[in-house]
Amino acid sequence: MKKKTKSKQPKRSIKLKKKKAVVRKPAKKKGFMKKLMGRFRSKRHSALAISRFKKRVQKPAKKVSKMPRKVKKSPKKLKKMPKTLRKGKKVIKKVTKKVKVLKKKAAPKKLKKILKKPVVQKPAKKTAKPAVKKMQEVSTVKAAVQPQMPTQAQPSPFRHEPVLVQEVLENLQLADKKVVMDGTLGLGGHSMRMLEQMPSDGVLIGFDVDDDNLATARQNLQQFGDRVMFVRSNFSNLEAELKTLNINAVDAILLDLGLSSPQVDNPVKGFSFLREGPLDMRFDKNASLTAAEVINSYGQNELIRIFQVYGEEPFARKIAQEITKRRKARSFKTTTELANFIEKLIGRKGHLHPATRVFQALRIEVNHELDVLLSALKQAVSMLKKHGRLAVIAYHSLEDRVVKQFFKECARDYINEPDKLTTTHLEPTLHIVTKKPIVPTESEISKNPRSRSAKLRVAEKI
Ligand SMILES: C[S@@+](CC[C@H](N)C(=O)[O-])C[C@H]1O[C@@H](n2cnc3c(N)ncnc32)[C@H](O)[C@@H]1O
Repeated sequence: MKKKTKSKQPKRSIKLKKKKAVVRKPAKKKGFMKKLMGRFRSKRHSALAISRFKKRVQKPAKKVSKMPRKVKKSPKKLKKMPKTLRKGKKVIKKVTKKVKVLKKKAAPKKLKKILKKPVVQKPAKKTAKPAVKKMQEVSTVKAAVQPQMPTQAQPSPFRHEPVLVQEVLENLQLADKKVVMDGTLGLGGHSMRMLEQMPSDGVLIGFDVDDDNLATARQNLQQFGDRVMFVRSNFSNLEAELKTLNINAVDAILLDLGLSSPQVDNPVKGFSFLREGPLDMRFDKNASLTAAEVINSYGQNELIRIFQVYGEEPFARKIAQEITKRRKARSFKTTTELANFIEKLIGRKGHLHPATRVFQALRIEVNHELDVLLSALKQAVSMLKKHGRLAVIAYHSLEDRVVKQFFKECARDYINEPDKLTTTHLEPTLHIVTKKPIVPTESEISKNPRSRSAKLRVAEKI
């Protein structure tokens, strides 16, 4: 309909006159910008006024067309325009100058409003891809983002400050403990302090899946000789791995979840949104799923779910929609590429980087963090000796919730009545030592800001 009216010039000018009466109000307000905006309701109208003006001053369109858009919304000035070319030129200069000033001051808000609409497009309809094509896509992505693998694990040049050390030692009561397990060896910070507290014939079994961290831990714990056993395995295999070592029960278990500083600081690991690296995020380089694969091959709904559940991201839907749109043209390869894309999309609010939640979600998904944690907690309870203690340090609310609920469940004394005929009295298996989680002191946080989100929970086997 609009197209038709466009071709009929006279009708349009009538329309314009009618509308003028309606929209004149805002022009009364003070301020040049308001006047400009108020005079015309649409760009089409202002463009029309400009073309009328051009005809009057009989000047080639060059200057006018170069003018910023706001100039086109300056009907009052244009209407009052003198017929002579000289005066017309002067006015153009004046208007352009004012618009420049106004653009700086007032335009951003208006422009944002205008720009917002086309950006938030409706999600593209999900087209079912044939499985083969999807597989091809995944393998291409894999090839493109495959991070450079170090030929041999190297002791890390980065440092890691162990968190809540004193609190862990006090709660694990290691003075008489002979067999202790550290499920997240990292660089061996906690393990070193634990070995120092244990009797001289006490042994520690250290698990980790990061080869570089294991290499560093080996170096850092050299002094303890064969009192330390290094296990390159996921802590969710703890029962099987301990049994392979002929260990049927342990006195204490520590899980210091999350990332070590070298993993954050080394861009090759792909965890940091501040340092450019491949979108990797695997703790274990032998695992097949990378963050790039998640971002470039998961369906839109899967991404929404991950961002919502694992990242608690309020813009989960918008981010997932835009990611699936953008990756059709070009897949995401690096951490900063994704981080900048998200920042552009949702903007910055507060001190938290806008990509923080999405990165957390990806990390949890890539490493199946919540699943392996729950599985490890169950095995830990079965492998602990009577009065043996389990300490878990979590760094985000989702992990902490899993630990809290698991402890609560194990500490509960209840009757299980699945079908009333097989009623069983389920006795508690754990006694919760820390009713409230232990958090770092102000002084620890100031020395080691990465400890700020840590929460330590401890339970004892009954
Ligand atoms: C926070 S760091 C531990 C730091 C250590 N407590 C120290 O003082 O050096 C967590 C470590 O656990 C490892 N890790 C994470 N998830 C794991 C899993 N499921 N199985 C084994 N190791 C894991 C990471 O590779 C990392 O080295």
